[in-house]
Amino acid sequence: MTTLTHVELARATRLYGSTLALRDASASFAAGSVTVLEGPNGSGKSTMLGLLSTSVKPTSGSVVWHPLGDDRAAARRHVGWLGHDAGVYPDLSGDENLRWAAALYGLGDDAARRSAARVGLGKIGARAVRTMSRGQRQRVALARALVHAPGLLLLDEPSTGLDRAGTSLLVSLVAEEVARGAIVVLVTHDAHLRDELGARRLRLDRGRIVGA
Ligand SMILES: Nc1ncnc2c1ncn2[C@@H]1O[C@H](COP(=O)(O)OP(=O)(O)O)[C@@H](O)[C@H]1O
Ligand SMILES: [Mg+2]
Repeated sequence: MTTLTHVELARATRLYGSTLALRDASASFAAGSVTVLEGPNGSGKSTMLGLLSTSVKPTSGSVVWHPLGDDRAAARRHVGWLGHDAGVYPDLSGDENLRWAAALYGLGDDAARRSAARVGLGKIGARAVRTMSRGQRQRVALARALVHAPGLLLLDEPSTGLDRAGTSLLVSLVAEEVARGAIVVLVTHDAHLRDELGARRLRLDRGRIVGA
């Protein structure tokens, strides 16, 4: 599969009705790097992740997934995503969710097992996701985002619900993904997590990039 070298936002703007969720945002995200998006509630962080993830279309400006171009359908399979809604099926077990996610990418149960092991899911993986704690569910969601070794890993407040051990695990997983050459972009309010990751910072305010 093609490897992403960088993703570029060029004057990307997204409107929701009359709300300017993101305006004129230009930024580049390189393979093997990690960026943290910061800013108050409603400043456009999730919208920016949405644009990078292919799920949100820019109203004007562009998103280019190099070397693929701006074809969102082509870029989609390179994206690993952890959003606000955990993106996992509550009635399936953790392990079933991961097997299902792997199958979506044409991968077998071994990929699902590897990913479960990476997040330390263990026996809890046999339980229905709806019976899991928030932190356990977050681990499943993280394993799901990682299952196909995505070139672009997008994490929206990934440390939500994680305990100290979970957060340390998240730091090492992100470091491994960066070392593998992935482009990692995450939203977090956790200064400790940001510092541990040694991430580049991009600050948003009212839909604008106000600091890098
Ligand atoms: N699907 C949507 N429909 C309408 N408005 C939206 C939608 N998504 C985001 N917005 C608005 O866009 C702005 C930016 O939202 P968001 O990117 O979610 O901010 P953040 O993640 O920084 O809290 C907010 O004013 C929000 O209400
Ligand atoms: Mg958000």
